[in-house]
Amino acid sequence: MLNQTQQPSDPLPSPRQLSVAPMMDWTDRHCRYFHRLLAPNAFLYTEMVTTGALLFGDTARFLDYNPQEHPVALQLGGSDPEALSRACLAAKPWHYDELNLNVGCPSDRVQKGRFGACLMKEPGLVKECLSAMVSASDVPVTIKCRVGVDEMDSDQALIDFVGHIADSGIDALIIHARKAWLSGLSPKQNREVPDLNYARVREVVKAFPQLQIILNGGLNSVSECLSQWEVFEGLMIGRAAYQTPWLLTELSAELGHPIPPSRRWVVDEMVKYTEQHVANGGRVHEVARHMLGLFHGQPGARAWRQKLSQTMHRPEAKPQLLLDACPEPACFNPVLEDFHWPVDGSVVDG
Ligand SMILES: Cc1cc2nc3c(=O)[nH]c(=O)nc-3n(C[C@H](O)[C@H](O)[C@H](O)COP(=O)(O)O)c2cc1C
Repeated sequence: MLNQTQQPSDPLPSPRQLSVAPMMDWTDRHCRYFHRLLAPNAFLYTEMVTTGALLFGDTARFLDYNPQEHPVALQLGGSDPEALSRACLAAKPWHYDELNLNVGCPSDRVQKGRFGACLMKEPGLVKECLSAMVSASDVPVTIKCRVGVDEMDSDQALIDFVGHIADSGIDALIIHARKAWLSGLSPKQNREVPDLNYARVREVVKAFPQLQIILNGGLNSVSECLSQWEVFEGLMIGRAAYQTPWLLTELSAELGHPIPPSRRWVVDEMVKYTEQHVANGGRVHEVARHMLGLFHGQPGARAWRQKLSQTMHRPEAKPQLLLDACPEPACFNPVLEDFHWPVDGSVVDG
């Protein structure tokens, strides 16, 4: 569907215009369901799942998700082309919309497994991994990397890296605009200390016009995103999406995407979702913990956070606590009656 400013001859916008970054322990399926309500068209990413966990662990636990989450990408961590190929095959019955390779995580644990950001120093191996994933899957394959690691820290080095992998069959490249230091900095510091280098990512756009380049890192406001959309086909938002989730709704509105009628409406839908989760044996806090930032900047935001934090972990906590804590009253808007979100407790379980 065209939005108001598009001409019929314009290329269709990328489905990755707006995406929410993979974040360990944060973007689990409850979080993604919440983000889906806030941004019905955004591309969502799972937390990273290693090939080992997927092939030798409880596969369903890692891969099950709610069908409302589409479009949703599975992020894999690994560096053995054969294992990545098997992981892609194992994930096929779950019908993820994209498979993504993590070449950006700098944690010690990940480095010990020889994957994540340290792979930027082995572009030949990355290409083999991506080619194996492309051959084993029938959905787009993408990669998420950094602008550099350690001493590999120049425009040319990044262009050389991208040049190595450009013809591996990938659909898009997500670039976190901060280099990573592989020793001396924690993963958290590696998201804060190295400077953002958007200019370097722009050089990649110029050098590889045929590749879809998605910018990630430090995008926190609508105005910043509007100026970066002038250059990049897509933007990926991480911490800001989690901590100030209504930003996703504001960005969706800028793109002309459908948006939810109000924060209160989102809470109402999340109550229904949480009821399903509890009925299936889950706990309220597993869902509610992702919603603490929903009223950020609004009257009553502090009380909402406090009430949720104090009560959601209690064994007797009920989904109703979301309504009790909600600072926004219910409102009936007949114009929005059509905006019906069919809450579906079912799970894509392969
Ligand atoms: C808690 C947390 C966990 C993360 N886990 C992953 C991960 O599993 N895979 C990955 O590629 N990046 C991970 N990241 C990095 C983000 O995807 C993103 O690249 C980074 O936060 C920069 O974007 P931002 O400045 O918009 O937050 C994580 C970030 C955070 C804050």
